[in-house]
Amino acid sequence: MKPLEKEANWALQKALQDNLITEEDTAVIFQSWNQLEVYLTHLKNSFPGDTLHAIAIKTNPQPKVLKKIIDLGFGLEAASIEEVQLAIDAGAEFSKIIFDSPVKTKREIDFCNQHLPGIRLNVNSLEELKRIPKNPSFTVGIRINPMIETGAPDIYHVSSDESKFGVPIIEKKQIIDAIIRFPVTQLHIHAGSHMSDLGGAIEAVKSLMELAIEANNTLELNGIERKITALDIGGGLSPEILGENQESNMQSYARAIIENCPEIVNFKLLTEFGQWCYFYTGYAYSRVEYSLTRGDKKIIFIHLGADFLMRDAYSKPRGLCFLTFDIKGELKTTTSSLFDIAGPLCFAGDYVTKNQLLQDPEEGDWLGLVNTGSNSIGLWSRHCSRMVPKVLGSNMNANALEVLSERFNPFA
Ligand SMILES: Cc1ncc(COP(=O)(O)O)c(C=O)c1O
Repeated sequence: MKPLEKEANWALQKALQDNLITEEDTAVIFQSWNQLEVYLTHLKNSFPGDTLHAIAIKTNPQPKVLKKIIDLGFGLEAASIEEVQLAIDAGAEFSKIIFDSPVKTKREIDFCNQHLPGIRLNVNSLEELKRIPKNPSFTVGIRINPMIETGAPDIYHVSSDESKFGVPIIEKKQIIDAIIRFPVTQLHIHAGSHMSDLGGAIEAVKSLMELAIEANNTLELNGIERKITALDIGGGLSPEILGENQESNMQSYARAIIENCPEIVNFKLLTEFGQWCYFYTGYAYSRVEYSLTRGDKKIIFIHLGADFLMRDAYSKPRGLCFLTFDIKGELKTTTSSLFDIAGPLCFAGDYVTKNQLLQDPEEGDWLGLVNTGSNSIGLWSRHCSRMVPKVLGSNMNANALEVLSERFNPFA
């Protein structure tokens, strides 16, 4: 069993024994503290020591999880002013918050200027620079579109010619002119999510760094002391299981960046990883409400579907693993057959997955869904107005569970 499956095998019984799951809890979501620390430590050790890793809040905005990330010394990337507020509430230093929304209002920018000195704000366009005050109290960055293929699937690819994100890098002259005229000290890319072509991703970082060097030379030629001092390379790596004695994709990516862009050490490096940090750190359980047959199909109905796993239901399954437990939380090892896993929502597409081998789940059993750590609770859909389940934090090494948030009505 992989580490998170082992943990999911332990946590249900423990939660039932500790009475943390009540009759009302038709589903429960877990965040593994141990695995989160494994991934964050690995990320930190892959890059130069003074890199600021601002973890993308959208991937998992649970407030106590954000607090843990801050307590471990990391920063947070906020995609909206609401996420900036979550970062502040979690205790983030302003200089460790990166504010990236593509639709910042003048009021939000003014709020940052008045109340959040040191926050790192990336504009999405040269037009947005006109909204920046003359002497801002915050760091100003420009998001650049590197216009490079990264192998990201279409819905996560943000580096095409017509992307709504960033200033196309071919507009180099206009970018450098803007850097001279406005108080810019940071450049940013986020080339795509689920990038499968790391060569393309590294090229994107290189082009960002070369642009910064050229801008700095031009600033100097114009007698301006200000410089681009920080490069924010975004996130975008796909989740991976970390092996004992083999280089991870994260390590190879960081190593290749340093090898291909040696001058990058002259800049403060920032990253914004999301799903890589979280995917293999979360799991959930749902009661099996029914198990029935329709034609040749065996179907189980559970209490988590497209509301929790929107990407899996609407796009394609992302590699969840399933475990069946009996009513007491004991792993079932009986014969397996194929099931469709139907969610609770009233639309035909609400399936977590189809034709999945399962240990014959029956009414009253629990289905464990493992690898639900990223883009799940953060994308909670209010379709059918169902309650958001209770969230628990688990520390298997210390044999301890804690409630992070109670089940709640998102409309209350
Ligand atoms: C600007 C920005 N940074 C970081 C991320 C995190 O991306 P990922 O989860 O692929 O690492 C995203 C994802 O949408 C993003 O838009």
